Amino acid sequence: MLAKDCEKKIILTGDRPTGRLHLGHYVGSLHRRVELQNSGKFDEINILVADDQALTDNWDNPQKIRDNILAVALDYLSCGIDPKKSNICIQSGIPALHALTFYYMNLVTTQRLSRNPTVKSEMVMRGFSDSASANDNKAGLPAGFFAYPVSQAADITAFKATTVPVGEDQEPMIEQTREIVRKFNTTYNADVLVEPEILLPENATQRRLPGTDGKAKMSKSLGNCIYLSDDPKTLKTKVMGMYTDPLHVNISDPGHVEGNAVFTYLDAFATDDMFARYLPDYQNLQEMKDHYAKGGLGDVKCKKFLIKVLEEMLAPIREKRAYWEQHVDDIYDILKEGTRHAVEETNETLKEVRAAMRIDYFEDDSIKDSWKKLIEDGFDK
Ligand code: TRP
Repeated sequence: MLAKDCEKKIILTGDRPTGRLHLGHYVGSLHRRVELQNSGKFDEINILVADDQALTDNWDNPQKIRDNILAVALDYLSCGIDPKKSNICIQSGIPALHALTFYYMNLVTTQRLSRNPTVKSEMVMRGFSDSASANDNKAGLPAGFFAYPVSQAADITAFKATTVPVGEDQEPMIEQTREIVRKFNTTYNADVLVEPEILLPENATQRRLPGTDGKAKMSKSLGNCIYLSDDPKTLKTKVMGMYTDPLHVNISDPGHVEGNAVFTYLDAFATDDMFARYLPDYQNLQEMKDHYAKGGLGDVKCKKFLIKVLEEMLAPIREKRAYWEQHVDDIYDILKEGTRHAVEETNETLKEVRAAMRIDYFEDDSIKDSWKKLIEDGFDK
């Protein structure tokens, strides 16, 4: 089928299985995915557990990736990703992705790759330098890591995704994918690959949830995360220790709401009916904020409310997790079936790609006639 005839709306998104998912992932992407899944607006939803990509900076610790495939799958299922509606698959089990990556490598220059801002900042965080000694891939820049945006382009195009819901940090990957698609379609005079669109989170809080320490981002390496799998006791301890307003010493002091992580979380999660249920002193968050700013509202009261708010969201997630933890065999089957389905689908794309490149030698034996003609005519003519 030609790309332009394909009017299906297809989602492809994914995560590297390097750890459990936290509240930042939830507001930024998981929650959205579940909404998109249930909106009925998409013909197909694929969620890729990107273990190959995770290996590009964890090649020496495959066990970590192996274990976290389960962690991520549990997080998906507990949050309401429904395997009947969304196809969950494992990257390393989908050979077409590797083949496409190899062909796309030719359509990208190393100069272009070095300009990818996300890869650049990840290199700094991981201590990879492109000027280190040639054979040390602990300090140097592993080629696989450097080129992972190309593999991400393969992920996206293999499924003919039209829509990629991801965070802002993934924007350079989608841009690079669009360039590869255009380059492929013009170089091979084909209309095979589809240019995807990015679907960014809707508001600032969704784009970036601060850590419990008030730092700009919730991240495992900063140790400031609330995990979706945290139990009530852990949640309570983390919230009670959260960063608020250092100038708000006495309850009667006026407080700052801006930059106060407790209020940022309330912005993200509290609804008016939660006030009615747990904190009827206020009708809504604005009233509560006004009181805090004026003075007379203590941090402990705010934090206790936040615990209730987060519990209301996390309790059903925890309940589903408890179910799935008892059904690991089913998780295995879901991933296996999802991957099988993805293999079928992406092999179709690979076939079209190879046909467009005219390297589909064994699909189309007309090459034999052209070979015979070459012999008759002589090679150099
Ligand atoms: N790079 C993404 C991340 O770090 C994971 C990912 C791999 C991905 N392949 C993808 C995201 C394809 C969207 C589409 O989270």
